[in-house]
Amino acid sequence: MPKLSVRSFAVSIDGYGAGPGQDLENPIGKRGLELMEWFFHTRTWRAMHGQEGGETGTDNEIAALGFAGIGAWILGRNMFGPVRGAWPDESWQGWWGAEPPYHVPVFVLTHYARAPLLMQGGTVFHFVTGGIHAALEAARDAAGTQDVRLGGGVATIRQFLQAGLIDELHLAQRPVLLGGGESLLEGIDMPALGYECARYVQGERASHVFLRRGGG
Ligand SMILES: NC(=O)c1ccc[n+]([C@@H]2O[C@H](COP(=O)([O-])OP(=O)(O)OC[C@H]3O[C@@H](n4cnc5c(N)ncnc54)[C@H](OP(=O)(O)O)[C@@H]3O)[C@@H](O)[C@H]2O)c1
Repeated sequence: MPKLSVRSFAVSIDGYGAGPGQDLENPIGKRGLELMEWFFHTRTWRAMHGQEGGETGTDNEIAALGFAGIGAWILGRNMFGPVRGAWPDESWQGWWGAEPPYHVPVFVLTHYARAPLLMQGGTVFHFVTGGIHAALEAARDAAGTQDVRLGGGVATIRQFLQAGLIDELHLAQRPVLLGGGESLLEGIDMPALGYECARYVQGERASHVFLRRGGG
């Protein structure tokens, strides 16, 4: 049975998945890039950006597995970019340049309709205004027998969690304190939703925690 998975989602010690003040200069909010430090050094990240080298330890293995067997992604509109409200035009095409690292259909949740965006390398951004169930149905259809990866951001993951739709979550906890921003689990009773910690692996720059729903 294909799964809905959160993979490689970075959180601070104090539980934030993004710092405060997201904007064009701070895609992950202020100091948010520190959350991704475990990923930027990996061979996987460098290869995704056409670069050679990079570290090949535990963090790299886990990062690479995060992309395996994924047939579609779901993102929130804030993860797609800094534009808020009605789209002023079609010029914003995501943070990732002409060839984004997805290479499969990506369903972007938003309240503001927009035509699909065909990018190089197989990524197609579809803008979904029908809510999380509509996004999941479209992503599952597109993914076929493969899994759907829920990329984030925080508000989007929280909705899917509260609806009991996420099968497994891999959180990469970084040893940083952000003090504010987008809190991933605040006010969410994970055990009551059936989640438990299935595995814990210490990487070079992050602690990897694998949560799943009991019996899953
Ligand atoms: N730590 C990590 O590993 C990681 C991974 C991914 C992203 N991030 C970061 O997380 C931040 C974004 O997270 P976020 O919590 O601010 O926002 P988000 O979840 O990316 O997006 C929230 C927005 O998506 C739209 N949306 C969400 N659910 C919807 C629904 N059911 N129906 C219609 N529209 C819906 C709404 O936009 P509109 O109403 O404006 O259309 C909403 O304001 C970014 O800084 C990103 O870089 C971090």
